[in-house]
Amino acid sequence: MTSISVINGPNLNALGTRKPEVYGRTTLADVEAMCREEAGKLGLDVEFHQSNHEGQIVDWFHELGPQVASGASLGAVYNPGAHTHYSYAIRDAIEGTSVPVIETHISNVHAREEFRHHSVISPLASGIVVGFGVYGYILAIRGLHQLSRAA
Ligand code: DQA
Repeated sequence: MTSISVINGPNLNALGTRKPEVYGRTTLADVEAMCREEAGKLGLDVEFHQSNHEGQIVDWFHELGPQVASGASLGAVYNPGAHTHYSYAIRDAIEGTSVPVIETHISNVHAREEFRHHSVISPLASGIVVGFGVYGYILAIRGLHQLSRAA
């Protein structure tokens, strides 16, 4: 079965308890279940990841590159967390592997602190979903699927 990866960066393991007024009360386990259900409707399998470590995320993109090239994976729904704003290592991994990425943020980063307004990932993203809460993951899965059909 064709898969998509859902990759979550630092602090997203604390979803549900971290700043619930910004990120809501849904846990990452709930998000994983939502993603599996939505992807299942589209006939897709999900590889669901979270790490607080930049190098681990670079490694996941390196593993994903050949899977996308072979058609086994459509790409990644990716919430980079704070890596969004400064990780050139992850930016370069995405560029180097040509993995299609839907950059996804739970909050509207543009309505928040200035440092959140800039993303080093966005220029490489196939699409961006911002500010829909955890429902954004569903939109991103649908978007990634739609883009792959259009390609
Ligand atoms: C976030 C926004 C980032 O600025 C922040 O560092 C996060 C979560 C979001 O989903 O809204 O950790 O990516």
